[in-house]
Amino acid sequence: MYRRATGPVGTTAFITFLLGIPILAGGIWLSSSATDCIRFLQLPLIILGVTLMAISLFGLSAACYGQRKLIRFFLFLLFLFLFALLFFIIFAYAVTDKGKGQVVTNRSFLEYLLNDYSGWLKDKVADGEYWEKVNDCLHRSGKCGVAMARYVRDPNSGLLVPESADAFYQRKLSPIESGCCKPPTSCGYTYVNETVWNPVPGVPATDPDCNRWSNDQQVLCYECDSCKAGVLATTRRHWRKVSKINIVVLVLLVILYFIGCLAYRHAKRAHYDETYGVNRMSKATPSIFRF
Ligand SMILES: *[C@@H]1O[C@H](CO)[C@@H](O)[C@H](O)[C@H]1NC(C)=O
Repeated sequence: MYRRATGPVGTTAFITFLLGIPILAGGIWLSSSATDCIRFLQLPLIILGVTLMAISLFGLSAACYGQRKLIRFFLFLLFLFLFALLFFIIFAYAVTDKGKGQVVTNRSFLEYLLNDYSGWLKDKVADGEYWEKVNDCLHRSGKCGVAMARYVRDPNSGLLVPESADAFYQRKLSPIESGCCKPPTSCGYTYVNETVWNPVPGVPATDPDCNRWSNDQQVLCYECDSCKAGVLATTRRHWRKVSKINIVVLVLLVILYFIGCLAYRHAKRAHYDETYGVNRMSKATPSIFRF
């Protein structure tokens, strides 16, 4: 039997199993609504993680039984998986290709414009029906509520009051906070607290978002283009993080795949040699393939 391949292939399968964990964790992290209200690639990512683990378990048992055909099939599945993962990484980069926040003078946070984004994901988010779902999720996640509020003690009255406008302008807001919880800076509205802003009478609104803004805490700027852009920016950020992990996993898998193939080929030759009485298993054999 092919006992000679058992060690390295078994080790390979064990490590590929462990590499399924970060992929799966990435998918689960993105699925939690606290993280991201856009859900379209989370499920494929979870499926990829589980698939890699299943393939690895198969490889482990193949290695245990020392079955040549099963080991070969395991390496073939691993090969297919590499392509699936590569395809996934390219897709994730392609759909989150463009767009970043805009710097505004005298503000530490960035502003988000829908026109900075393009492509399939933008069209999907801009679409009314899909936006309703995302909007629902945004409301439930409560990012514009207490999580955003900051209070300071007023030295005169000793009461807690909202932070000053200047303090607010120095904050680093998340794309959702900047796009959905306040009106765009270009509207020139005056700050009352983080989520209450009053129009200056007589100043015409240039951006349609200015008219979409409402001090009703259930409305705010949730229907604004800036909010959609903020959601897109968030999705992009999260997908880029997950893709980086996936790239590391892919590189490690390619290396493991070649180690597995080498071990398999070496074991095959050794088997041939044993069967036909050739003695090539010698000092030339790299130690990791010797048992
Ligand atoms: C701002 O004030 C309004 C009205 O008093 C309040 O409902 C809202 O929660 C406050 N916003 C924040 C972020 O504290």
